[in-house]
This record gives sequence, C-alpha cells and structure tokens, in this order.
Amino acid sequence: MTKTKILIRGALALALAGALMTAVLAAPAQTPDPTPQTMLARTPPMGWNSWNHFHCGDSESLVEAQAKAMVASGMKAAGYEYINIDDCWQGKRGPHGNIHPNSRFPNMKAMGDYIHSLGLKFGIYSSPGPKTCAGYEGSYGHEAQDARTYASWGVDYLKYDWCSAREVYKPDQMQAAYEKMHQALVATGRPIVYSLCQYGLQRVWSWGPSVGANLWRTTDDISDHYDRMILIGQEQNGLGRFAGPGHWNDPDMLEIGNGGMRPEEEETHMSLWCLLSAPLIAGNDLTKMTPQTLAILTNPDVIAVDQDPAGNEGYRVWQEGPLQIWMKVMADRSRVVGLFNLGFSPEPITVNFGQIGVGSTEQVRDLWERKDLGTFHGSYTATVPGHGVVLVRITDN
Ligand code: GLA
Repeated sequence: MTKTKILIRGALALALAGALMTAVLAAPAQTPDPTPQTMLARTPPMGWNSWNHFHCGDSESLVEAQAKAMVASGMKAAGYEYINIDDCWQGKRGPHGNIHPNSRFPNMKAMGDYIHSLGLKFGIYSSPGPKTCAGYEGSYGHEAQDARTYASWGVDYLKYDWCSAREVYKPDQMQAAYEKMHQALVATGRPIVYSLCQYGLQRVWSWGPSVGANLWRTTDDISDHYDRMILIGQEQNGLGRFAGPGHWNDPDMLEIGNGGMRPEEEETHMSLWCLLSAPLIAGNDLTKMTPQTLAILTNPDVIAVDQDPAGNEGYRVWQEGPLQIWMKVMADRSRVVGLFNLGFSPEPITVNFGQIGVGSTEQVRDLWERKDLGTFHGSYTATVPGHGVVLVRITDN
C-alpha cells in the first residue's frame, strides 16, 4: 500500500470513528416502554398544582375547594385529573421518623379520600434532600418510609424537587438519589406517577426514564410573565426525541388565569405547551376563573393536540426574526401548526405545505376558533397578533 493510500485510509477511519462517537453521544438513552411505570402516563399528565398561585398559602380546605371546582367548572370533563399539593405541607417527624403534615393539613388521608371521591387523583411533593426548597422537611434518609406514608394516604403522584439535595449529594449521585425514591415508590405496590424536578440539570431528559421518571422538569421555574414563559417555551426546541408515551419533558406548570398575561399571551402559552406534549398542570385558582380563563384551559380541540396518543413532541420548523412556525405530527398524520408572533404588532405568517411534509391541497381547521376554514392550495396565511398565535390543524383531503 502506498503512503498516500495509508493516509487516506487513516483519515477515513478517523472520520468514521468521529461520526460514530457523535451518533452515540446524540442518541437518547434507551427507554424501555411499556413498563408498569410508563403505563401511568401514556399521555402527558393533566391536573392542578397549588404552587404557582398559592405558594405556601395552601391548606386542606383550600385544596378540597380546588378539587370541587375542578369538577364543577368542567375542568375534569376536559381531562384534568390530578390535584397536587406542592411545597409547605410538611410538619415534623414522629419518634419513629414518620412524616406528619403541619396544622394546615390536619388529615391527609381524609383529604386524599375526598379527592378520590370526586373521581380525581392526589399528588404530593417532597425533596431528596433534608429540606424542601421552602425549608420544610425533605425525604433524605427516609425515602422508603415516606413512600409508604404517601401510599397509605392514597397518593397517586409525587413531585420530587432537588432543592437542598445539592448539599448532601455530589452531582454524580443525582441519578442514584432519584432512582432510590423510584424504587421506594415501586416497593409500596401503589401506582404513583413520578415527577422529577431538578430544573433540567445534567441533561435530565437523557436519563430521566432510566430512573423511573414519568416526567422531568427541563427548566428553572416559570413565572407569570410573557417574557419568562416564551423563553422557556423556546428552549424546549430539540428535546422532542427524548419524550413519548409514559415519559415527558416538563417545561413547568401553567400560569394561565393568574393575571400576568394578556389573553393572546395565554393562548400562546397553552398552544406552545400543547404542541410540546407538555404536562398540563394548571396553576391558577380554580374557584375564581373568568369564562375566558376556563375557555383557554379547556378548549377540546387544543387539548386534543396535547393528549394525542402518538406522543410526538412538536418543534420549530421555521423562524424569521420574531415570527416562528412550530409543528407537531399527530397520530393520524395530520399536522398541527402554530404560527407565533413574538413581536408587538400584528404580522401575516405563511406556512407552506411543502415545509411541513403534506400535499398541495389540504383542509385547515382553526383550533382556537374551533372552525373549519376550508380547502387551501399550497399554503395557508394568517395574520397573527403581537405575542399571539394562530393554531391550525392541517389534514389531507
Ligand atoms: C422549586 C420548584 C417549584 C416549586 C418550589 C417550591 O422552586 O421548581 O416548582 O415546587 O420549589 O418551594
């Protein structure tokens, strides 16, 4: 073999090794599915959580009122199911280490029974660290015991928030800390949805399923402002291949109805979360919803996008300055397309059918309006308000 040939072969081998390495690094962790755990969340969980609106101000009577309102308002009929208490319910541990709730939650078992009596499910919150983020008692050193306590109260969902765990675990022990609680939950024999909250550290999406997670937060906390919400939403692009039935990326809970966003901004929030197959955990006061808030949270055409059984996550297919097009492929191969205007004044946005892999003649339905718009050839154009969205479903003739 000549020297040149050897050099060429060497270069080819190096290139091949490089390509293989890139492929290995880019490949998502193998996600076994279905498993008993992944069967608990075939579609993204839907429910309510106390944190975004009430922070540490919740109580047993308040939570029960939210559960009642979930049914009375029509939220339950729209698919919302979990009533989740967040931080601040914990009291002290008893002499044998059993966790007790504080005085605002006099009877957890009775509260769980009440939630179940309404046909809803009960979620709770803890931390792998000694303290929760708000400084209440965490589960460190009591994982199996706490899991058994939750099961005895009828808990169906656990949000497990890293918080002070950073003080007792090294970063490379994070996965083991999460796995430990997963095993503790499994050992109770009660099916419990497992929600990781560690703000997206260490590319959690690449290992969440391997520690039994049904969902994992991909970001730091949301707040009730358009700028924060839209930044989080944008950051989800590219995470789709890590999610699917049983295991979901969680860009945090909804802020719809909390007063900090205009209706068109709230429609943007809901549309983006549904395109992303995000868990839909309402974070407002369900006992005091305006008809507009309720309409945004319960539009059946929009919820069907989130709950589509294929569980594909949407992604951005086009961007020009503040104008963006996101697309999600549905189980029936129709496309849901979000035309987003991140600017301040109305702008027309055109989606070309070639751009989203469909034929030249398509039916278009406006999902917020719940109206069939008819047949379109080659493209569809809508004028989108500033900070707003037009969400359409595009179906073959
Ligand atoms: C963290 C979480 C929030 C909430 C609070 C409670 O900030 O990310 O969702 O649970 O803790 O203290």
